Amino acid sequence: MAFLVTGGCGFIGSNFIRLLREREPSTRIVNLDALTYAGNPANLADLEGDVLYHFVHGDITDRSLVARTLTDHSIEAVFHLAAESHVDRSILDSTPFIATNVTGTQVLLDASRAHGVKRFVHVSTDEVYGSLGAEGFFTEQTPLAPNSPYAASKAGSDLLVRASHHTHGFPAIITRCSNNYGPYQFPEKLIPLVISNIEAGLAIPVYGDGLQVRDWIHVQDHAAGIYATYKHGVPGEVYNFGGRCERANIDLVKTLLQLMGRPESLIRYVADRPGHDRRYAIDCSKAEQELGWQVRVDFSEGLADTVRWYRANTGWIEKIRSGEYRRYYQSQYGHRGV
Ligand code: NAD
Ligand code: DAU
Repeated sequence: MAFLVTGGCGFIGSNFIRLLREREPSTRIVNLDALTYAGNPANLADLEGDVLYHFVHGDITDRSLVARTLTDHSIEAVFHLAAESHVDRSILDSTPFIATNVTGTQVLLDASRAHGVKRFVHVSTDEVYGSLGAEGFFTEQTPLAPNSPYAASKAGSDLLVRASHHTHGFPAIITRCSNNYGPYQFPEKLIPLVISNIEAGLAIPVYGDGLQVRDWIHVQDHAAGIYATYKHGVPGEVYNFGGRCERANIDLVKTLLQLMGRPESLIRYVADRPGHDRRYAIDCSKAEQELGWQVRVDFSEGLADTVRWYRANTGWIEKIRSGEYRRYYQSQYGHRGV
């Protein structure tokens, strides 16, 4: 018995593997990751020497590697997190998003079905539902209406997962979560970008009027939701996860400035993101009722902890900013370049 986690060197993947190790201490965990710009094995440095943890450097679009990994390690359950994940990058070039998020998911699904995987948890996003006005919430019944190339590629992957269950009876389940925050998040995303810019004394770019709303959830709560889906979810079903914590971007930025004792004069309003979704808010009552899951991390405590983590780990940010970790892993593993 072994688990395969894809994208385990990324933000949510590394936090999820740590939770999985705690919950399933005697099960082998295989992490398949291509080490794109967002993948950093240092995120799992604490697992070095764990004989039940195995890293495979490879791409989920590589059919033979995926098939070999499933067979060689007798994989019974797959947690699929590998993705191109940043909206702004998808606006500049959607090519890697289609390759990894759509084709990669198709390759993984087909190989997992051929291998006889017993549980496949596909980690998706609330962005597939599009954008909300001032009222209402996304439920699992909300029609898909993705607005960015990233969201469209994730919606494509969700539909492939849905079809694999409907057509082949493949035991796949989809999770859709709102915006995560916490340790090890790549500093291109809003919260770590703001914290690291404040630390470096740089200006903080706020897109448009800054009144877009996101529903924030601590990464540990999302990781617990992915695990609860594996344990209690029903194949073919979708489960939404969210933090019940809506914040306008500008308010969040001001809170971070306050927490870090820096002035609001660091804020710079910049051009808006094209096609910018206005508001996300998740109704996660299905996961609460059917999976016995609930949010545990209070937002103000989680945010303060996150600021402390980034302040205590300035070396982690520095290495990313300088490109040092990429140069090191490129020399160790080669790199597909993003
Ligand atoms: P991330 O960008 O931090 O990490 C992605 C990981 O996938 C990296 O380690 C990268 O090297 C790996 N990867 C990329 N392409 C690959 C490929 N072709 N083959 C193998 N590995 C590859 O992303 P994240 O924020 O940790 O998101 C993880 C998953 O959760 C994604 O599927 C994302 O859509 C979903 N999600 C993210 C959020 C969020 O707020 N970050 C919210 C909901 C859902
Ligand atoms: O909702 C889940 C999604 O959340 C995930 O599927 C994505 O992988 C993840 O990246 C995230 O998408 P967002 O686009 O919401 O996150 P991001 O951190 O890029 O931006 C959050 C908000 O902050 C968004 O309204 C854009 C705004 N923003 C972002 C950046 C990077 C700024 O105003 N300034 C910035 O510099």
